Amino acid sequence: MRPAKGLNRREVLAAVPAVAAAQAIKLGGPSQPLPVAVASSNGLRAVAEAVKRMEQGLPPVDAAVAGVSLLEADPDDVTVGYGGLPNEEGVVQLDAAVMDGTTMRAGAVAALEGIKHPSQVALAVMRRTTRVLLVGEGAKKFARAHGFTEENLLTERARKIWLYWKENAAPSDDWLPDPKELEDPDIRWFVERFGDAYFRPQGTIHLSAVDGQGRVGCCTTTSGLFFKLPGRVGDSPLIGCGLYCDAEVGSAGATGHGESNIIVVGAHTVVEFMRQGKSPEEACLSTLQRVVRNTREVYLKDAQGRPKNNLTLYAVNVRGEVGAASLWSGSQFAVCRTGQAPELRACAYLFQRPQRTP
Ligand code: GLY
Repeated sequence: MRPAKGLNRREVLAAVPAVAAAQAIKLGGPSQPLPVAVASSNGLRAVAEAVKRMEQGLPPVDAAVAGVSLLEADPDDVTVGYGGLPNEEGVVQLDAAVMDGTTMRAGAVAALEGIKHPSQVALAVMRRTTRVLLVGEGAKKFARAHGFTEENLLTERARKIWLYWKENAAPSDDWLPDPKELEDPDIRWFVERFGDAYFRPQGTIHLSAVDGQGRVGCCTTTSGLFFKLPGRVGDSPLIGCGLYCDAEVGSAGATGHGESNIIVVGAHTVVEFMRQGKSPEEACLSTLQRVVRNTREVYLKDAQGRPKNNLTLYAVNVRGEVGAASLWSGSQFAVCRTGQAPELRACAYLFQRPQRTP
């Protein structure tokens, strides 16, 4: 963009938020108390932190990053940041993205190794470059240039879980499982949470935030599909898929089977459905219907033709209404609204998950 006469590029960028915020305010005041944050079920602490930061005046995108950073630093969340489960070669590769719905700027990193807070690097990509997405070695060089320190993200627990997967993945390869492995507290911890049969889920945290000043922002961060192909990038760092927001409408994001979400450009689709007048929950459900229609490969479907994998979508509109929906029953989402304690709520869903036989 050529700056208007008399304005340099920095002044043009700085001028954008005021214009967008003014447009959003014209749409009418909030019908629910703001600020509000919505996130995946692992984000209970994150939504509380995001709301606290917005109450202190931080823009929603920065508040979202502050919230998810708690999980990125937590070794007990094996789906995000430090302690995240590695790829099939035992290397932790992280994806993250941020978007500011007021400026319509975004930043993202993918397949980033050795940096604990990919969400903060994504924020730096948004603020400190003219680009949107950096990957792999380039993303790491950029992070180091901005003072992020490199560290080993593979915790002992994550290494043991990866080895357990590797040894049990194929009966005819060269890796032999230790019969005592299932007695290891770290392996038992993993199997209790994620099961032994459904062995490759993908966790993630998404957080969408709306403040009381017409500003909207979001962030998604993940270690991606457990034991993924090296270099595999899911939906999380792809703007429009893992997250999207627009201060005229609201914000949305996703966790779950990334490939299913990429095909429907899920988060953008949710925001567009809300623009057409759907509630956040209706917008999430309509987008999931598209996922069902677009799931064509036999290996992705169960005997009744339904997607085998799960996908959950989260949304909030500028009036502060929230909603979330999953393909399969049993998921929850986290919400925090100013003046209220953070809480988990049940997601709407398309299909009832069959009861497990004991
Ligand atoms: N939704 C996270 C992933 O597929 O990597």
